[in-house]
Amino acid sequence: MTDLRIKIGDITFSNPVFTASGTFGYGTEVSDLTDVSKLGAIVTKSVTLFPREGNPPPRVVETPAGMINSIGLANVGVERYIREMIPLYDNIGTKVIMNIAGTTLEEYCDVLEKVEVISSNICGYEINISCPNVKKGGMQFGVDSSMTEALTAEMRKRTERLIIMKLSPNVTDITSIAKAAENGGADAVSAINTVVGMSIDSETGKSQIYTTYGGLSGPAIKPIGLATVHKVYQSVNIPVIGLGGITTGLDAVEYLLAGAVAVQVGTATFRHADAGEQIINELHQFGDSKSIEKISSLTGAVKTYTK
Ligand code: SIN
Repeated sequence: MTDLRIKIGDITFSNPVFTASGTFGYGTEVSDLTDVSKLGAIVTKSVTLFPREGNPPPRVVETPAGMINSIGLANVGVERYIREMIPLYDNIGTKVIMNIAGTTLEEYCDVLEKVEVISSNICGYEINISCPNVKKGGMQFGVDSSMTEALTAEMRKRTERLIIMKLSPNVTDITSIAKAAENGGADAVSAINTVVGMSIDSETGKSQIYTTYGGLSGPAIKPIGLATVHKVYQSVNIPVIGLGGITTGLDAVEYLLAGAVAVQVGTATFRHADAGEQIINELHQFGDSKSIEKISSLTGAVKTYTK
């Protein structure tokens, strides 16, 4: 049987299939629908210093082969997250990666510090520098390599847990941002967050999203995700976690071949809450059918025509 275990930093994950932030709540809401303990890890929705209502509706719309969201980082805020969610992780049966967002460098630091001083089994932090749906913070960091490096370094100073910087595809050169994250001391990067998109109802002439633009996810963006992961994989020496439109085990295989060490499943979970579990089963089937000893041997093994 193929060994699905993978390593990021010092942490070994039982398999390379994680949930994507913003698509699986805080990881505590879906245990009736899927066996969370089968997942390699849960990545929580973004948590900010203060509670956020998010953007007004409509904030989600289905599009061909995808979905556009503009949630605006709605969340309960770090104090309530610590009180109500973190204790539930004690028996969750899988690894938890907390996603953090902020409007200023200080806010990111404050959130992380508040969690660092309590006891928890959170194994790492994914730092959201790529949300396209807020006016302040988020993507402002992810489009600027010096801000990315400075934020990563501040996060690094404050924790020995994993630091994973979540990158935006909405930039000219994502490899320079990935390198900045690596220089700042990140253990890994995840790519890609959503691609800026728009949807219009031709009957009414109305924008389908309150904020006009939102983030496109789902199978429509898989080729963009693959190309980005491949470019980032070639430009840094830290692991890349791939996401964008993964709905099957074979999609996950493609991301691993492109250079990902692990993948995150997001939009597919809205159709089937157990999409992650199905993808793990399909990875096992793929590995066994090809007599692959370790799934990690696929990382970066794509055969390209040119260097
Ligand atoms: C949102 O809350 O608007 C989406 C989060 C993200 O894209 O990072």
